[in-house]
Amino acid sequence: MIAPGALPGNGFIPYATQVIPCRTKGDRSVDAALHAIIPPLREPLAEKKTAMTYVVTEDCIKCKYMDCVEVCPVDCFYEGDNMLVIHPDECIDCGVCEPECPPAAIVPDSDGKAEKWLKLNADFAVKWPNITRKGTPPPDADAHKVEADKYQKYFSPEPGKGE
Ligand code: SF4
Ligand code: F3S
Repeated sequence: MIAPGALPGNGFIPYATQVIPCRTKGDRSVDAALHAIIPPLREPLAEKKTAMTYVVTEDCIKCKYMDCVEVCPVDCFYEGDNMLVIHPDECIDCGVCEPECPPAAIVPDSDGKAEKWLKLNADFAVKWPNITRKGTPPPDADAHKVEADKYQKYFSPEPGKGE
């Protein structure tokens, strides 16, 4: 809950409750209702926050399990050919995606590992299509789960299909 007065204006704002992570992706009617509410929330929260975001690192490359997409309450993942990125200006820093990723590819920007990948996330989030539903991971995803230097070996700037 955001305390009245914690935000600009008279404190009696229509977005006094934070977006609560949920798992409603299977219910399109609930999704539709939520998504009608969330866009107006997104901008004020983005203005309020101080550029906090989660970041997808190279550990996603060639794995692309997409479990993260299923839980993101604001649909801020974007799909490349063999990895996803997070739009830093859309992420509300809720953290629910982080533990869902099998190769632990998602980190908060406070993590030292994140700095190197933040620009890549920001750059490709505006080039690749938005993805809101989990698709089928690559058949050899497990074989790439614990592998070093995946960016150098496999990064593709090509867009994914999105959904
Ligand atoms: Fe989406 Fe993860 Fe950002 Fe939460 S932390 S808004 S789940 S990308
Ligand atoms: Fe990539 Fe992990 Fe999501 S592998 S697609 S960041 S669940």
